[in-house]
Amino acid sequence: MGKQGKQRAKERRVQRLLEIAELRKIPYSPVDRWWSSETVAVVTGANRGIGYEIARQLASHGLCVILTARDADRGRATADGLRGEGLNVEFRQLDVMDADSIKSFTKWVGDKYGGLDILVNNAGVNFNTGADNSVEFAEKVIATNYVGTKRIIETLIPKMRPSSSGSRILNVSSRLGRVNGRRNRVGNATLREQLLKDDCLSEELIDGMVTNLLHQVKEGTWASNDWPQMFTDYSVSKLAVNSYTRLMARRLADRPEGHKIYINCYCPGWVKTAMTGWEGNATPEVGADTGVWIILLPSQQATTGKFFAERREISF
Ligand SMILES: NC(=O)c1ccc[n+]([C@@H]2O[C@H](COP(=O)([O-])OP(=O)(O)OC[C@H]3O[C@@H](n4cnc5c(N)ncnc54)[C@H](OP(=O)(O)O)[C@@H]3O)[C@@H](O)[C@H]2O)c1
Repeated sequence: MGKQGKQRAKERRVQRLLEIAELRKIPYSPVDRWWSSETVAVVTGANRGIGYEIARQLASHGLCVILTARDADRGRATADGLRGEGLNVEFRQLDVMDADSIKSFTKWVGDKYGGLDILVNNAGVNFNTGADNSVEFAEKVIATNYVGTKRIIETLIPKMRPSSSGSRILNVSSRLGRVNGRRNRVGNATLREQLLKDDCLSEELIDGMVTNLLHQVKEGTWASNDWPQMFTDYSVSKLAVNSYTRLMARRLADRPEGHKIYINCYCPGWVKTAMTGWEGNATPEVGADTGVWIILLPSQQATTGKFFAERREISF
């Protein structure tokens, strides 16, 4: 994109954020508020950043929020702070990389609440900033962002409570994981095509892609292959999350009325958090907005298998 193109894109983004700021002032009407103070929303990695903001905003809309974090002290202190503001927030430890932690969380949420209505998979890691592109931590990045998200979804789906409004799963992802991203995509055209075609998309295909990257990282051959050029391991992990979101939407599509589960993903934008070294062009509050908007979509507008940014659907 040339200098002028970048300038125009920036102006469009600023304009859209102004529009969203206006939209956020409009309160939800009673007919659109499908949730209540009994609606249970679980947010992973919510002790800071975008996850914290999603938890705070959902609680501000009157939901019961389970704020989870891998570090119990940090998570508890964060939840205490939100409760101090009068919000209905409870802390529970959850490390998305730790099978025992997931198991114990799943039992607890089932015993205490009879399950959950909303799951936000926000926990994530990225070890690169700026122009860096090291794959030193590729295994951890894939294990947290993709495998962790997948494991949490698989384990918690049976605990999702029946509801006439449908229960909801949201994966916090990134435009860096777009199949046909203009500047950052997998070079293999066949793989791109397979990822986009419903009858080719499978868990084996997605797992195969991430395994292939990790194998090449071990062999030291990844750089000469056609992987996304920016934050390679992170971009592939988010491409996997996006593809898995579409796959799960299809798997969940046949559930009967009253047992529907809607699953979507979104990109929060470039947000000033610890992950970006506090660089970015949006605050965590703004970055959380589209996520909260998708989760709270009125029942008639609820949708599944989509990718969003700035309160609009975008292409995978
Ligand atoms: N910031 C951006 O520009 C941007 C853009 C696109 C997408 N995203 C996505 O947004 C999400 C939140 O990122 P952020 O920017 O808010 O970054 P952040 O401030 O670094 O927050 C990441 C959160 O994930 C938690 N986490 C990491 N590994 C975990 C694990 N194994 N189990 C449970 N929690 C774990 C972290 O916990 P600790 O505090 O214990 O480390 C932290 O709470 C991520 O999925 C990220 O990929 C961010």
